[in-house]
Amino acid sequence: MSDPTQEAMQAAELGVERAALAETLDELAELDTQLLGKKGRLGLLKSTLRDAEPDQRKEIGRAINESRVAIESAIEQRRTVLEAEARRVVLLEEAQDLTEALGRARTGHVHPITLTWERLEDVFVGMGFTVEDGPEIETDWFNFEALNLPEAHPARSLWDTLYVDTSEIDGVGDGQVLLRTHTSPVQIRTMLRAAEQGSGPPIYAVCPGRVYRRDTADATHLPVFHQIEGLVIDRGISMADLAGTIEEFTKAYFGESMTSRLRPSYFPFTEPSAEMDISQPDGSWLEIGGCGMVHPNVLRHCGLDPEEWTGFAFGFGIDRLAKIRHDVADLRDFVTNDMRFLEQF
Ligand code: DAH
Repeated sequence: MSDPTQEAMQAAELGVERAALAETLDELAELDTQLLGKKGRLGLLKSTLRDAEPDQRKEIGRAINESRVAIESAIEQRRTVLEAEARRVVLLEEAQDLTEALGRARTGHVHPITLTWERLEDVFVGMGFTVEDGPEIETDWFNFEALNLPEAHPARSLWDTLYVDTSEIDGVGDGQVLLRTHTSPVQIRTMLRAAEQGSGPPIYAVCPGRVYRRDTADATHLPVFHQIEGLVIDRGISMADLAGTIEEFTKAYFGESMTSRLRPSYFPFTEPSAEMDISQPDGSWLEIGGCGMVHPNVLRHCGLDPEEWTGFAFGFGIDRLAKIRHDVADLRDFVTNDMRFLEQF
């Protein structure tokens, strides 16, 4: 038998060379077994140690060990390279050609509800109104009380209200904080703001915004929807001014051939109150919201003297107007984010 030390060095040389040439991970595994396995070349060499001269064992042992380290590191190095290559192949195979999707890339555009909201603002601004806003989380006082709906007023049940849980907040009673059920509290905020800033009345304002009701979504209702509130406070304002404003708005927004009408109704914050209808091309009437002359109690809550100031208010659904204008059958289509629907606007 040849010199075991030399044997070990030869094995290392062979191992390093074959590892570098290996084409597959399987080949590498085989090389590992052939050289490093129990019955592999180094393994067998190790078993001859027993028979070696005691003074030579140390040297042979070191040679075997060095050879093992060299082979192991060569195999490991090659494995890293082969694995990276395999990953690259998988990535290439699984890659998708996105050229087509890129070609269809679209720039974003305004949501139909926002579009309607903006058009409404434009029409009213064109008629000399300012645009006001208020918070979506409101207090009971702004949403109901100041609007002539004291606690336990039966008409409160007209608004299915979502209350904010304030049990963790010191000093805030149960049912005092809510998600506004209509944009009417912005009437109150607008009158109080004008008083605070010493800027009015006269007030000619619209207040578009998001409102909330405890309601199940269906084709004609959404639990989260939008309204636009109108408020006019001036000297000598009458019901005729209200009817004229609604009519002018109808023509400006829907077109000269459209007309409006008011029907008697009831709201606690207006007296008298009316329902606003808009004529449909087929001759039928469509209800779009409520309106009326601002109730003296509402004016008083805002520090205005009903003997000096009078006014009217109105409020209607923005989503419903978008639905009519674009002939959309189901309000839920506005919120389900189906691109095929949204792209039409
Ligand atoms: N706030 C009412 C609602 O949401 C609509 C409304 C009716 C607003 C009469 C008004 C009004 O300003 O005068 O049902």
